[in-house]
Amino acid sequence: MNHLPFDALMELKSGVIDEASQVINRRLSDMPSFFHDQDAVQAQLEEDPVLYRTYIKQSPISPSLWSIGSSVIEPGTVGNEYFMTKGHFHLKEEAPEVYFTVSGSGRLLLQRHSGEAEVKNMAPGVINYIPGGWAHRTVNVGEKPLIFFAVWPADAGHNYGAIEEMGFTKLVVDDRGVPKIIDNPKSAPGLGK
Ligand code: F6R
Ligand code: MN
Repeated sequence: MNHLPFDALMELKSGVIDEASQVINRRLSDMPSFFHDQDAVQAQLEEDPVLYRTYIKQSPISPSLWSIGSSVIEPGTVGNEYFMTKGHFHLKEEAPEVYFTVSGSGRLLLQRHSGEAEVKNMAPGVINYIPGGWAHRTVNVGEKPLIFFAVWPADAGHNYGAIEEMGFTKLVVDDRGVPKIIDNPKSAPGLGK
């Protein structure tokens, strides 16, 4: 394949990538079942806040190409659970990904199908390497937007169903102003594979 080099500009303050080929806007109503406190979800659905936006420059789907994108997760909580992304496995399980945080403060939840989990910090300058086989979800634990850049193989694909079904084994909640990792009583590792 013969592709041309290109440049893109990510506006560091807003996280917006110019000429993104795809902009995804996720509101609470796009993912009500992902939060543990369903009474809080119902109470906040009328306002239906935007939880995050993702700007993607998608390359043609090929194992030798990369896609790039940025995500901006708003600050806030649903009940005591911080605003977060849906989280996904890659459809092509071996496909890895790299995140680079530009601003804000977050946690990266990582989990295998077996339920084995890890939690990593996200802060300006931190590079997170996500190996193949690990689902990944980002959580904004700060008071400003959490903004990060991501690069992944263009043919990785996204499997949201497995996470919707089994949940992450860990939740990130606001405990009187301090982010705390707790066990998710509803998670069921191994489902959705
Ligand atoms: C791409 C990737 C990120 C996320 C984005 C939104 O593989 O991991 O660009 O897609 O942070 O999160 P999801 O896709 O889980 O809604
Ligand atoms: Mn991904």
